[in-house]
Parts: sequence; structure tokens; C-alpha cells
Amino acid sequence: MQNFSFHNPCQIEFGAGQISKLSALIPSDARVLLLYGGGSIKHNGVYDEVVAALSQHHWQAFAGVEPNPEYETLMRAVEFAREQNLDFILAVGGGSVIDGAKFVAAAVPHDGDCWLIIGNRVPIKTALPIGVVLTLPATGSESNFAAVISRRETNDKLSFKNAKVFPQFAILDPKSTMSLPARQIGNGVVDAFVHTTEQYLTYPCEALLQDRFAEGILQTLIEIGAQTLAEPNDYNARANLMWAANQALYGMVGLGQAQDWATHAMGHELTMLHGLDHAQTLAIILPALWRYRFESKKAKLAQYGRRVWQLSGEDEQVARQAIEKTADFFNAMGLSTRLSAYQIDAKIAADGVAAQLTRHGRVKLGEHFDLTPEDCRAILLTAH
Ligand code: NZQ
Ligand code: ZN
Repeated sequence: MQNFSFHNPCQIEFGAGQISKLSALIPSDARVLLLYGGGSIKHNGVYDEVVAALSQHHWQAFAGVEPNPEYETLMRAVEFAREQNLDFILAVGGGSVIDGAKFVAAAVPHDGDCWLIIGNRVPIKTALPIGVVLTLPATGSESNFAAVISRRETNDKLSFKNAKVFPQFAILDPKSTMSLPARQIGNGVVDAFVHTTEQYLTYPCEALLQDRFAEGILQTLIEIGAQTLAEPNDYNARANLMWAANQALYGMVGLGQAQDWATHAMGHELTMLHGLDHAQTLAIILPALWRYRFESKKAKLAQYGRRVWQLSGEDEQVARQAIEKTADFFNAMGLSTRLSAYQIDAKIAADGVAAQLTRHGRVKLGEHFDLTPEDCRAILLTAH
């Protein structure tokens, strides 16, 4: 097991009715910026619950944070927060709104070019406090310190990470996810699944508990993903999905493990160039990457196949079957593993992603830091 340090200061309030706790979780003298997306919270009752809980607070809203949150939009939120002297950011929505909130929290007090915050190119001296009401289980952003921001003008979708933007609290009410369309449920399951495998499916690191924790999350997602799609009103399925997605990127799965975030690195470029949903890119890339890196991942693939899919036989055979089981599972969640399903030409996508990775300096990916843009190009060509 590799060395690690771990700290997650986010308080989690889980369960039906917990949104009312906002009144106590946010300091009474805070001036709150309520940040949200395209309006789903106005249709499913979440906005009304939040407003009721904030009845004793000073708050103002900024709406319109889009999926794959856009820098220009967020800069308008930053200006608004500065003008109105707002000093607490409350994100109500999915990963895009939460990531946007992290950027706004860091940018409001920042002196200088806020774009440099993205990619961790300037230190973040301070950030406004953040609270979250989560409506889409997928990213784990509600209780981690990462954010992914897009800038369409320059074709960039890049992340930053900083402990100063850890949300202080996250409210996870499974009822607020009941209004999700099937596409977003499938997306959430696949995103959480891939977060788990990227911290687990590399090579054996003798991190026994973390392996079993990862396998437990993967098995839960397989069980609960199908159940949630089949029974959209099943509260316990929603609850388990929300908790599994949170735990997938809460920080514990990857402790002491070699990690491989190449699927996400390539996926962000694919979203920027071709407009696919985040999880759609992951479903295309992950099985193709595993086939391409079969030999170096074989031991872990075989372990995964036996423990998660209950396969038996020789390592080689179990590992290969495990990849196909994973691809079938993504398909069952409504996500294709092929670029052609989205009318995307594999050569154009492969060339574009390789060029973007090179431009962004992402030239040594994977658990062995040896996956080049040329390898990424070859992987995408197989996902035609
Ligand atoms: O904008 P609204 O109207 O709210 O609609 C959203 C949006 O259209 C809708 N939605 C959310 N909750 C809903 C709902 N619709 C009905 N009922 C509800 N309860 O869902 C759509 C997608 O929302 P979005 O927030 O974009 O989805 P997701 O949570 O999948 O977030 C994706 C973003 O997170 C980044 C991705 O790259 C992408 O930009 N990620 C962030 C990570 C992190 N911070 O740790 C890790 C991830 O790997 C990921 O990269
Ligand atoms: Zn993701």
C-alpha cells in the first residue's frame, strides 16, 4: 500500500426532508448566493424547499449554470456576488452547478485573472464558504475539492483542485433525485462506476480494504442502477445510488492505490470537441482503454471479474469477459460504447482528442505515466 494522507471536512446530511436543515447549517448573518442551473429545481419542488429554509437569511439567486459549466457564465456570477457583497455560496443542483460554485467561491476574492485558477496555475489564498444541495448523484463533487470548468471560446475543459473549495456541508435528499430523466440516471451510474474503477483497476497495490470498498461500490451500482431504471419511484434505490455515487469520489476508494484517470482526461476533451455528456464519453473510452492496456491491467481485471461479476476460470479468460460484462452494463444503463452511436467519426475524434491532450500537456497519463496522446488516439480509433 502506498503512503497517503486523508481529510474530508464536508458534513453530510443524508435523507428525506434534510433540506430544511439549511436554516441551521448556514450562519444567520451570511449573505447567500443561491447558484443553480437551467431550472429543474423549479419544477421538482427543490427550489421551494430551499427558499422556505432560507426564510431568515439574506439571499440572492443566480440561475443558468449550464451542464459543463461555462467560464463566461460563472464570471457573471462572480461579478454579481462582488456587486452584492455576497459571502456564502449555496449550490443547488448537479455536478455542474457544484463545480461552478467552487470556481465562484475561489474567484470572488481573487485578485487578478480568474482563468488562471483553472488548472491550478495560481495559488488560491482564500475562498468563500460553500454549501450544497445535491439533485443528481454522479460526480461526488458535493463532498470533494475538485471542479471542472469549460471555456468554449478556447476549447478548454479543465479542472482545478484545492482544499479551500471543499463544501462545508452537503445535503443529500434522495427525493430530490426523483425527477431525473432516465438519461441522467444512467449517466450518474456510469460516472460513479468509472470514478471507482479509475482508483482501483490498475495493478495490485496490496490495499486490501480499498479494493473491497471499490468492489462493494461497483456491485452496489450494478444492482441499484438496474433497479432505479426499472422502478423510478423506489426511494431506497435512489438512496443507495446517491450514497454510492458520493462514496465513489469521496476520497477513500483511492487511498494508497495506483490510479489511472486517463479515461476522464480523454473524456473531457471528447465533451469539449463533440458535445457528448460527460458519462457518455466515459462509457465509450473505458472498455476500449482496458482492451488496449490489457496486459498491464490483467491481474486487476481478473480480480474484478471474479469478485464483482462472479466469473470463474483462467485469469486471461476472466479478464476478457469482465471487460465485455462492463460494456454490456453500460449499454444496459442506456449508454453506448461506440462513437458511431453518436454519429461521430472515430478518426476525427481520435485526432482531435490527441491534439487537445498535447496542447494541454496531458502527455503521460495512466497508472504508469506512459500513456501518450498517440496511445489515446489509438484507443479512440478502436471505439468507432
Ligand atoms: O440545469 P438543470 O435545469 O438543473 O438540469 C440539469 C442538467 O440539465 C439536470 N438535472 C440535475 N438535477 C436534476 C436534473 N433534472 C431533473 N431532476 C433533477 N433532480 O441534469 C442535467 C445535467 O446536470 P449536470 O450537473 O451537468 O450533471 P452531472 O452531475 O453529471 O455533472 C457533470 C459535470 O461534472 C463534471 C463533469 O465534467 C461535468 O462538467 N465532473 C465533476 C467532478 C468533480 N467535481 O469531482 C468529477 C466528474 O468526473 C466530472 O468530471
Ligand atoms: Zn466523472
